[in-house]
Amino acid sequence: MTILQNFHTNLKTKDPAIYDAIHREFNREEEGLELIASENYVSTAVLEAQGSILTNKYAEGYPSKRYYGGCEFIDQIENLAIDRACRLFGAETANVQPHSGSQANMATYLALLSPGDAFAGMSLNQGGHLTHGSPANFSGKLFKVISYGLNPKTHRLDYDQIRDLIRKEKPKVLVAGASAYPRIIDFEILGTLAQEASIDFVVDMAHIAGLVAAGLHPSPIPFATYTTSTTHKTLRGPRGGLILCRSDRIKAVNSQIFPGIQGGPLMHVIAAKAVAFSEALSPSFLEYQKATLSNAKKLAQELMEQGLPLITGGTDTHLMLADLSLWKDGSITGKEAEAWLDRAGITVNKNTVPHEKRSPFITSGIRIGVPAITTRGMGSEEMKKIATWIIQVLESKGDQSQLQKIRMDVKALCSEFPLYGSSKV
Ligand SMILES: Cc1ncc(COP(=O)(O)O)c(C=O)c1O
Repeated sequence: MTILQNFHTNLKTKDPAIYDAIHREFNREEEGLELIASENYVSTAVLEAQGSILTNKYAEGYPSKRYYGGCEFIDQIENLAIDRACRLFGAETANVQPHSGSQANMATYLALLSPGDAFAGMSLNQGGHLTHGSPANFSGKLFKVISYGLNPKTHRLDYDQIRDLIRKEKPKVLVAGASAYPRIIDFEILGTLAQEASIDFVVDMAHIAGLVAAGLHPSPIPFATYTTSTTHKTLRGPRGGLILCRSDRIKAVNSQIFPGIQGGPLMHVIAAKAVAFSEALSPSFLEYQKATLSNAKKLAQELMEQGLPLITGGTDTHLMLADLSLWKDGSITGKEAEAWLDRAGITVNKNTVPHEKRSPFITSGIRIGVPAITTRGMGSEEMKKIATWIIQVLESKGDQSQLQKIRMDVKALCSEFPLYGSSKV
C-alpha cells in the first residue's frame, strides 16, 4: 500500500475520474524532474492536515472574535499557526488567513493605499510578480504604478535607480520582492530608502521565505511595514499566503483580509500551514535549505560550464534564469525549450529575460529552480546529470527519439528518489 492509496480509498470508488487524474498527476510528479522554482513537495503531515475535516468549518473573523459558533478548536489551530509563524520569522504578529500570495499582497496594498495612489514595484518583465503592478492585475488597475527594473549591465537591482525614482515620483509605498531574481535582495538598503522618503515598505518574500526562515537570506522583517509570503514555495507548506508585521500594524491589514477581500478562512489550509511552520522550525529544515542553496550553485555552475549563459552569471538563491538568446545562434525560444524539456520529463517554465525582445508568451529564457528536487534528496551528483540532460535537450532541437531517451534516463534517476516513500502507485 502506498501513502496515496491509503489516502484515496474512498475516492477510488466514489469518483474514479478524479481519483484517476490524481494518480496520473502523482505518477507525473514521481517520474519527472520538477524544476519549477515555485513548486515543492509537502510532507505527509501537511497533506493530512490539509485533507482533514477542518474543511467543514466556517470561522469568519479572527481567534476569539468569530461570527460563527463552535470555533474553540479552530481558534487553537489559528493561534498555533500565528505563534509558529512569528517564531519562525521573528515577527511580532501575523495574519495566516490569506488564501494565496496574491491576496496577501492585495490586503497590504489596501491597508496602505487608496485607489489611484502610487506605489513602486519591480516590473514583471524584469523579475517582479504580477501583483507588483502589472497592468493585467488588480495592482496595476487600482493603483498608479511606478516600475523599477534592473541595472541594464549587471542585471542586478540598481538601488541608486530606485532611490532616484522614489525621490522623483514620490510613491506612497515601495514594494520589494521578485519571482525571477537569482540574487540576494538587500532589504536593509531598500528599507532605508523608504524611511528616507517617509513611505511604507512592503516586502513580498514569497520565493525566498524558506531561505529567510532558515537564516540563509537576510530577513526583511526588521525593515518592512508588512512582509508577505506564499507558504508553498521554498517554505514547503500548503498553497496559501501569509502576512507578518508589528503588532500596531495588524488591525489595518486584518480588516482588509476579512471582511475586506475574503470570506471564511480555509481552516484546513491554516492547520497545514501550522504544520509546515513547525517543520520549518526543526533543524532538518535548515539542512534542507542549505542543500537547496548548494544544489542551485552546483546546477548553475554545471550549466555554465556546459555553455549555457545564466543571467548575472549564477545564483545566490534557489533559482537561476538561463538566457537562451545568448546560447549558440540565439534561435531557441523559452517556449520551445519548455516544451522540449517537458517531453524529456523535465519541467521548467519559460521566462522573460531582463533585455527581452520576444513576447511574454514566447520569451528568451527559462527559469530553473531546485527546491522540489532537493526535497527528494537529490544532491551534487544528480545536479551534474540534470545539467547535462538540459543541454542535451536544447541541442536536440526537439528531436523526438533523443527526448524519449533522456526521458527514460530521467525516469530511472527519479525512481532512486521516490516521493512519499513509494516507487509506483
Ligand atoms: C513573488 C511572488 N509573489 C506572489 C505570488 C503569488 O502567489 P499565489 O500564486 O499564491 O497568488 C507569487 C507566485 O508565483 C510570487 O512569485
